[in-house]
Amino acid sequence: MTTPYTETRQHLQHNSYCWLVTGVAGFIGSNLLETLLGLNQKVVGLDNFSTGHPHNLDQVSMAVGPEAWLNFKFIEGDIRQLADCRKACEGVDFVLHQAALGSVPRSIDDPILTNESNVSGFLNILVAARDAQVKRFVYAASSSTYGDHPGLPKVESVIGQPLSPYAVTKYVNELYADVFARCYTMQSIGLRYFNIFGPRQDPNGAYAAVIPQWIAALIRNQPLYINGDGETSRDFCFVENAVQANLLAALTTDAQATNQVYNIAVNARTSLNQLYAMMHDLLIDRFPHISSHQPTYRDFRQGDVRHSQADIGKAHELLGYMPTHRIDQGLKQSMNWYLQHLS
Ligand SMILES: NC(=O)c1ccc[n+]([C@@H]2O[C@H](COP(=O)([O-])OP(=O)(O)OC[C@H]3O[C@@H](n4cnc5c(N)ncnc54)[C@H](O)[C@@H]3O)[C@@H](O)[C@H]2O)c1
Repeated sequence: MTTPYTETRQHLQHNSYCWLVTGVAGFIGSNLLETLLGLNQKVVGLDNFSTGHPHNLDQVSMAVGPEAWLNFKFIEGDIRQLADCRKACEGVDFVLHQAALGSVPRSIDDPILTNESNVSGFLNILVAARDAQVKRFVYAASSSTYGDHPGLPKVESVIGQPLSPYAVTKYVNELYADVFARCYTMQSIGLRYFNIFGPRQDPNGAYAAVIPQWIAALIRNQPLYINGDGETSRDFCFVENAVQANLLAALTTDAQATNQVYNIAVNARTSLNQLYAMMHDLLIDRFPHISSHQPTYRDFRQGDVRHSQADIGKAHELLGYMPTHRIDQGLKQSMNWYLQHLS
């Protein structure tokens, strides 16, 4: 079936551009890198390895092979330094800006550090992209921008009050991108990711996301914690859907589609209790020891919204976004990767 995404991929197979992926050693950044190199694109990557890892780049190198890897140039640098941003933007057509300090709890523990990367760093890369006259600036926004607004599903035009410093930073990104479009006629698109998961998402550390953290706990038969009663729900979105959204956003030729923000998710809702059951089912054959494994329930986590589900109609209409993976399909693919790399 021909879709806007298959057409975009075909276009890229015949046209080579230069892309900057910031946060390239991280989870989403390294998945973008793998797809772009697989499509014969040239990629510059910027990362300071604060939460990303050299082994993510090694895995991409193995996946794409030595010839495609020659099209990748890595700059170890920091978006908090304008000079690093300028160097990374040289000769670039499209920026896919992923570098940031993620995690709501991290931002509550250290709002200054989060602000430095996510706001000052964002402004640096935006200025550098403007001055390098890139064709388009696509950036990772966040569903946390919906804050305390109770409406479901979430539509882009209706947001509430932020519930964490992280949410403030991601909303400020949208405001800056919007103002740069007005003041400097720059073209940008923000992608409000909703709980992205998949291969290379870090399972370790205090601020790990729920899916990799739980997979690791199940495989290692370690305690696993559910914050609250387990009925908190999320629109979990496989990383290949996020990659699709980035490529569509960078290459859309529809003038109405630029200088906008879009929800990137699946338009489904899975509770934490359901998520636990799905993972348990996927792993039980391979790890019979988990038959007696039970999650431990603890207090709700500060700053967390109760329910989240995206209306993806706007991304569908203006970008042609059609998620290729539901949560169950994405979990299966992710599980294969975690089994290879964790067990
Ligand atoms: N994963 C999700 O569910 C999700 C949801 C909403 C938004 N986002 C956003 O998507 C983006 C990518 O997230 P991810 O899940 O891949 O996280 P990640 O932590 O795996 O990747 C972020 C990368 O940015 C790098 N980085 C951080 N600060 C930097 C700095 N100052 N200079 C240079 N590099 C820096 C890190 O080393 C890391 O490699 C982030 O902007 C995040 O806020 C992610």
